[in-house]
Amino acid sequence: MNNDIKILSIESSCDETAAAVTLNGREVLSNIIYSQITLHEEYGGVVPEIASRKHIEKINQVIDRALKESGHTLRDMDAIAVTYGPGLVGALLVGVSAAKALAFATGIPLIGVHHIEGHICANYIENKELEPPFVCLVASGGHSHLVVVKDHGEFELIGRTRDDAAGEAFDKVARAIGLGYPGGPKIDKAAREGNPDAFTFPQAKIEGAEYDFSFSGLKSAVLNLINQAKMQGQELDQADIAASFQKAVVEVLAGHAIRACKEYGMNKLAIAGGVASNTALRERLEKECAANNIEFYRPSPVLCTDNAAMIGAAAYFEYRKGVRFGLDMNAVPNLPLGDRERRYHGRASRLDLLERDFGGRR
Ligand code: KG4
Ligand code: ZN
Repeated sequence: MNNDIKILSIESSCDETAAAVTLNGREVLSNIIYSQITLHEEYGGVVPEIASRKHIEKINQVIDRALKESGHTLRDMDAIAVTYGPGLVGALLVGVSAAKALAFATGIPLIGVHHIEGHICANYIENKELEPPFVCLVASGGHSHLVVVKDHGEFELIGRTRDDAAGEAFDKVARAIGLGYPGGPKIDKAAREGNPDAFTFPQAKIEGAEYDFSFSGLKSAVLNLINQAKMQGQELDQADIAASFQKAVVEVLAGHAIRACKEYGMNKLAIAGGVASNTALRERLEKECAANNIEFYRPSPVLCTDNAAMIGAAAYFEYRKGVRFGLDMNAVPNLPLGDRERRYHGRASRLDLLERDFGGRR
C-alpha cells in the first residue's frame, strides 16, 4: 500500500497568492507564487483592498498551475490545506474560501494552518533529518518571535516584539531613506556598499523580558538622524545608514537566538520568515552557531518569504495527528500561535459536511 501523503496547500495572508503540492511534508512537487509586490510598490506598502482583489483574480490560476506542475490532479490529493490566520482578513478569506470550496466539492479533508507555523515548517523541506526540539527565530513583516519548537505542532513562545516587527522596521527605514518598498531586500542590497560602523543605533533591551524585541526605538533613532542631518543641510550616505541599521537589527536578532539556544540547552537553531533571507543575518548566525556548536538551519530565500509549500509542510504533521477542519473554518486575522481552534471532524463525506453545515438542506 502507498502511504504517501500529497497535500494541496494555499497561502493568501498578505500580498502573495500561492499554491503548492507537497509530498509527505518534506518534498515540494510544485510551488507557485504570484507576488503582488509591483502592485503595492507605488503606495509604499501593502494596500489590503488591492491585495484581496488581486487574490480573487489569481487564486484559481495559481491552484491550477500548482496541480499541473505537480503532475497530479485534485482527486489525487489527501488533504487541502490553507492559511487561516494571522494576516489581512480580506486576503485570508480568499484562500480560505477557495480551500473550502474545493474540500466541499470533493470531500477531501480540509486543514487550517497557522501562518507562522508554516514559516517554521519551511525548515523541514530542505532538511529531511530535522526534527524537534529546536529553537526557531521567526522574523517577518508582521512578526518577530522567538519560539521553542517542542514537538510537531507544539510551540512555546519565549520572546516577541513589543512594537514593530523586524521586517516592518526594515520597510519603514527603507522608505525614510528613499529606497522604497519592500524595504528588506533593498536595505540588504544597499548595505553591502555601506559601512556598518558609520552610525551607532540603540539596541533596545527590555527589562525582565530578555527574549522580547523592540524595533520602534531603533526606527525612530534612524528617522531622527535623518531629520537632524536635513536641518543642518547635511547629506547622509544611504548605504551607510542601511548598513548601520541592518547591523543593529541583526545583532539583536542573533544575540537573542543564540542566548535562547544556550539557556534552553538546544543545539539546533532554525530561522524563518522574510527577514530570515537577510544576507547579514544568515552570515552572522552561521558564524555564531559554528562557534557555539549549534546546528544552523535556514531555508532557501524563496522558502523564507511567503509561499504555500511551507503551509503544506505544516499541514502534513497536522494531518498525521488526525487534525481535520470543518467547512465552518473562518479566517482569523489575529490567530495566536499554538491556539489553533483545532477541530477533529474526521474524513467527512460531502453529504456529512452538507448536513453538518446546512442542517441537511440542499
Ligand atoms: O514572511 P514575509 O514574506 O511576509 C510576512 O509574513 O510578513 O516577510 C516579509 C518581510 C518584509 O517586511 C520584507 O521587507 C522582509 O520580510 N524581507 C527582508 C528581506 N527579504 C524580505 N528583510 C531583510 N532582508 C531581506 N533580504
Ligand atoms: Zn509570512
